Amino acid sequence: MTSVPIVELTAVKKKYSFGQNRVSVLNGIDFTIKKHDFVAITGASGSGKSTLLHILGCLDHVDSGTYLLGGEDVSKLSDSRLSVYRRNFIGFVFQDFNLLPHATVYENVALPFLYSPDSAADEKIRHAIENVGLSHRLTHHPSALSGGERQRVAIARAVAVNPKLILADEPTGNLDHNTSLEIMDLFTSLHGNGATILLVSHDREVSNAADTLYEMKNGLLRDVA
Ligand SMILES: Nc1ncnc2c1ncn2[C@@H]1O[C@H](COP(=O)(O)OP(=O)(O)OP(=O)(O)O)[C@@H](O)[C@H]1O
Ligand SMILES: [Mg+2]
Repeated sequence: MTSVPIVELTAVKKKYSFGQNRVSVLNGIDFTIKKHDFVAITGASGSGKSTLLHILGCLDHVDSGTYLLGGEDVSKLSDSRLSVYRRNFIGFVFQDFNLLPHATVYENVALPFLYSPDSAADEKIRHAIENVGLSHRLTHHPSALSGGERQRVAIARAVAVNPKLILADEPTGNLDHNTSLEIMDLFTSLHGNGATILLVSHDREVSNAADTLYEMKNGLLRDVA
């Protein structure tokens, strides 16, 4: 039996209105992510990569077409079911880390559990932090960490609930070259441990770490050989 794809987009379109202007950003995207895929999307600034990621992360809606996440049509889920679904399904990693400045490393990674109580939360939080090599920084605040360490915390937060899909939008965009490579090693090792990852990056060296590479152009995704 073939398994249900984690993500299945069919003919997805998205426009933004800006005053009188309407900009077509996504022009009929067909796209599938299967369990254990490691996919990267590259493309020029403004080509629609973040728009696509926001749709995949259920932070934005499609104008037309369908989005099946784990076989469920997300447009048919109520807001409350959608937020539960999103929390259990998706771990998001952002370019600017999005950590809470006044919370410790431990508290930042604990955030997803605030809304999804779990008797094993403490163990999962510590395990996620250990996985990114920051067990010795549990009580530090983000301001006392390097950029690479901050992104490690954000990755630990994204993976602590063991999401079925990790979405990363320019996760190395604010990091120097060597730190970027370390973060990519971390994604590669998460993938080796079974994670399914979609990563967006301008940087071809970064996106080449993935098994499959697409380019976003003219509102469409094309395979990059
Ligand atoms: N909320 C919005 N309202 C109006 N236009 C928007 C909005 N969000 C994005 N856009 C427009 O949609 C297009 C795609 O933006 P998007 O952020 O998806 O690009 P991107 O490929 O992620 O770019 P970058 O590489 O610079 O992050 C851009 O032209 C942008 O100006
Ligand atoms: Mg973007």
